[in-house]
Amino acid sequence: MQFELNDTQRMLRDTCREFADRELVPNARTWDEEHRFPKEAVKKLGDLGLMGVAVPEEWGGAGADNVSYALAMEEISRGCASTGVIMSVNNSLYCDPVLKFGTDEQKQEWLAPFAAGEKLGCFGLTEPEAGSDAAAQKTIAVRDGDDYLITGSKNWITNGPQADAIVLFTMTDRSKGNKGITAFLLDLNSPGVTRAPADRKLGIAASGSCSLFFDNVRVPAKNLLGKEGDGFKVAMSTLDGGRIGIAAQALGIARAAFEEALAYSKERKSFDKPIASHQAISFMLADMGTELDAARLLVLRAAALKDQGVRHSTESAMAKLYASEMSHRVTHKAIQIHGGYGYSKEFDVERHYRDARITEIYEGTSEIQRIVIAASLLKG
Ligand code: CAA
Repeated sequence: MQFELNDTQRMLRDTCREFADRELVPNARTWDEEHRFPKEAVKKLGDLGLMGVAVPEEWGGAGADNVSYALAMEEISRGCASTGVIMSVNNSLYCDPVLKFGTDEQKQEWLAPFAAGEKLGCFGLTEPEAGSDAAAQKTIAVRDGDDYLITGSKNWITNGPQADAIVLFTMTDRSKGNKGITAFLLDLNSPGVTRAPADRKLGIAASGSCSLFFDNVRVPAKNLLGKEGDGFKVAMSTLDGGRIGIAAQALGIARAAFEEALAYSKERKSFDKPIASHQAISFMLADMGTELDAARLLVLRAAALKDQGVRHSTESAMAKLYASEMSHRVTHKAIQIHGGYGYSKEFDVERHYRDARITEIYEGTSEIQRIVIAASLLKG
């Protein structure tokens, strides 16, 4: 068993760490307070190759592996969780399915500019009545000559307010259940597409999400991603990768909170000594550090399996389940260690606590991850 990172992985991690310290950490609080999309930072992520980390260079990406991607996601999310999810959706939920299921012609148009960070992508699966039950798609696509006409709506679409294109899931044959679902590549500036105002959220306030409405939107049949009826498998296998990104985001948020709590516990004094010297605090720090390492090992295992090209649905679900719930516990303890200051806007730990919460919900709730894990355990 090999626990050492290779030179490329270490270099990318260190570049991301420095970038986060320089560009993200000093601004994240203001972006959060103002609900401001970090446009300049996202442009710089593109310049660094971070909007298509595991996309081959010939398609505009950095040509790195998925372990590197997970390391990068942890570092960027440590600096700013909102920037982390913007990056994760573009990498995992947009570029990855186009890379995996797209034709070369589609990759030229729909992958290269997105992996290079010139354009932004998003992923349209969730609907008002199709959240955890992703197969219950109501958005329909009806064949019309060489085109399809799409009608319906999607909600909670991360990057929706800013994105140029979407990997969009539709129902083409309701009688076939999940085998009647079809994925399309769609330009979000097409006639008939409307974007609702950005959602107001508890955390990740600098990342935009919104509802999208489709009214008889005409899409050429050449924009099918995969074959008609393959959409559910496109969505599920995409989420196997996406869940690694979100697990790494949760890890990054938790690490930010842990590092701040650790530093604070050495400075803050009570009963004539630094609070870190009280066993109550040092035991909390010990648990936090242990859980962070455990989560990282699960994340890196899932990413390494993706790199080997083997099915990793269960390992991704385990990584996301554990890392997101760990992030909740660690950010909670970080506030506890800060006492009253932790509850105030003077420190960043309250933001980390709010940001961590969504990682237990999007890309499959913790309950959905448990369903995926249990199904695999019971199957043996
Ligand atoms: N890879 C490939 N195929 C898969 C698969 C995977 N990971 N998971 C399932 N499938 C296939 C199955 O093999 C099966 O195929 P056959 O019928 O040919 O055997 C088919 O898909 C149906 O599988 P299930 O019966 O397991 O499907 P289900 O309807 O019971 O649903 C579920 C399973 C796990 C509950 C699924 O619906 C799910 O993951 N729900 C959560 C949805 C989700 O994560 N949404 C997140 C939205 S995106 C988001 O949040 C983005 C953002 O903003 C950041």
